[in-house]
This record gives sequence, structure tokens and C-alpha cells, in this order.
Amino acid sequence: MLPFASGLRRRSGGTVLVVDDLEANLTALAAMLRLEGYDVLLARNGSEAIDIVRAERPDVILSDVRMPVLDGFELCRALKAAPDTCLLPVVLLTGATEPQDRLRAIEAGANDFLAKPIDQSELKARVRSLVQFKQVTDELDSAEAVLRSLALMIEVRDAYTEGHCHRLARYAVEVGRLIGLDEHDLQALSRGGYFHDIGKIGLPDAILLKPGALTPEEFDRVKQHPIIGDELCGKLRALQPVRGIVRHHHERLDGSGYPDGIAGDEIPLLAQIIGIVDVYDAMTTDRPYRMAMTEAEAIAELRHEVAKGWRRADLVEAFIDTRRTAGAGAA
Ligand SMILES: [Fe+2]
Repeated sequence: MLPFASGLRRRSGGTVLVVDDLEANLTALAAMLRLEGYDVLLARNGSEAIDIVRAERPDVILSDVRMPVLDGFELCRALKAAPDTCLLPVVLLTGATEPQDRLRAIEAGANDFLAKPIDQSELKARVRSLVQFKQVTDELDSAEAVLRSLALMIEVRDAYTEGHCHRLARYAVEVGRLIGLDEHDLQALSRGGYFHDIGKIGLPDAILLKPGALTPEEFDRVKQHPIIGDELCGKLRALQPVRGIVRHHHERLDGSGYPDGIAGDEIPLLAQIIGIVDVYDAMTTDRPYRMAMTEAEAIAELRHEVAKGWRRADLVEAFIDTRRTAGAGAA
């Protein structure tokens, strides 16, 4: 480790928000954490803590449980219920004489709890590991956000496909729900809707936006997009469940698709679902080379693809059911 030169500001090891209504506790915890190299924020109750979380984005929260206005359990429950703060680690400092506090801390979704009086070395170890956890989840979050932005950039390049990713994610999740897939698969379908064509980032506008038919060479380049997309998603652990979708959404049941020419059940189920909704959405929106088909024409075409042996009949019919339900809901 480098010597700690005077005059240089020591780099923060993360930001900890300490919440307690007793000034003496705040001062003692803050002093100890600052010595460990953390930036420290202070709040006197849960409500103040929520305001600080929104403004300052701390890495970890250490909170007392008994406080006026909003107590530690309610604070924890509120943070865990909001999508943008649910990954923020919360450690509740519970009273040793109230064993039910531990149960309430678990029920509130606390990542950890420490009984008072606080053992300093235990507290330091917990904070250190939770700050690391938070920094890893931040990286994943921002990496996924970058890829999502890339996916939407591809959509923006091509005015004809505006809203395509959103629609695909929605259609695919509706099909998944109808056929009884679990939450994990539904999340993969939703992400697959956004990321399926991420590999098109490497395609020039001259091909992506070409109004006429593609030459064989141009089509060969288009056929690379699932492979490039798979490689991009392969770099992120959070996107492992969507790799099968990204790579295989252009495969066909009879093996005549691309890029791998796999057939039947070798094609991941989620990729088959995205493949169906992708084709449907392409047919029902205007393209540079043709006008959009009607919903009925697109459905007839999907059934035709079933007859040709390209797609599973049960999945196509499930999708058609979801469209009917959506149409009935809109009527
Ligand atoms: Fe594609």
C-alpha cells in the first residue's frame, strides 16, 4: 500500500449513512467510520434518511431501530420496496434486550443486524463487505444500463423500428406468463426483448437501413448479429440468462435458421418465443421496403411458418391468444 502522504486527501472507501436519533451515537459511529476511510452522512430519523439516500446515494446504511417519525424497520422496508434502492445494503442496530427485533429486522429485509452494544471489529467487517457488495451491484447495474442504451441506440438509428424493443419485451413476457414460465424466465424474456439485436451495433447504416433486398454478402453480415450480440452479453454475468435468446432468436425448428442452424428442442424455448414476437412485430410495422401488414395478415403468416415447420404451433397459438386478449382489452 502507498504511504499516506500528508496534504493528500485519502480516497474514500465508500459512503456510509448513519441513522440514529441520539447525537452521541451518531458522533461515535461517524468518528469510527471516518477513521476507516469512509465518507459519512448523518440522519436523525428514517424520513431524513430517505431524503439523503435520494440525494446522495450512499453505499451502505447503518440504522438504529427506535427513532421518531420513521423507525429503522419502516426505513428498511421502504428502501427494499423501491426498485432503485432495493439493492442498497441496510444494517439494523438492534437492542440486545429485545430478541423480537432480530425477527423484525429480517422481516423488514435488512441485509444484516448487529446487537447493541456494538462490537467495533464486527461492525467494521460487515460494513467493509457490504460496501464491496454494493460496488459490484453498481457495476452490474451500470454495465447493463450501458448495453440497454446501446440497444435503444440501434432502434433510434432506424426510425422504422421505434418502440420495437419495448413491444418485444412486452409481447414476450405476455406469452411467457400465459404458458406458465417462472419469474426468472419472464425477466430473461423482458431483457431479451431489449438485447436480442444488440449485435446490430456492428452493422453499417447502408445495410441496416437499406430500402431494397440485401446482396448475399450483406445478408452474411446481418447473420453475424446474433453471434456479436452473444459475445457482448457474455461479458456480463447478469446477462447470462439472455445469451441463448440473443444467439438463437433467428433459428428455425427445421434447422434452416441462423447462425447455428440448430433444430427442434435444441433451440432454447425463450429464443423461440422472442423469434415469434420479433417476426410478428417486424411484419406489423412499416419497413423501408414495404408497408405494415394488418394483424390478421401477420397472424396468417405466422401460422404459415408453423405449416412450413419453422415454428412451434403451441407457441404461435399462445402468442395469438395474448394478442386477442390485448385486442379485447383495448376494445
Ligand atoms: Fe435479430
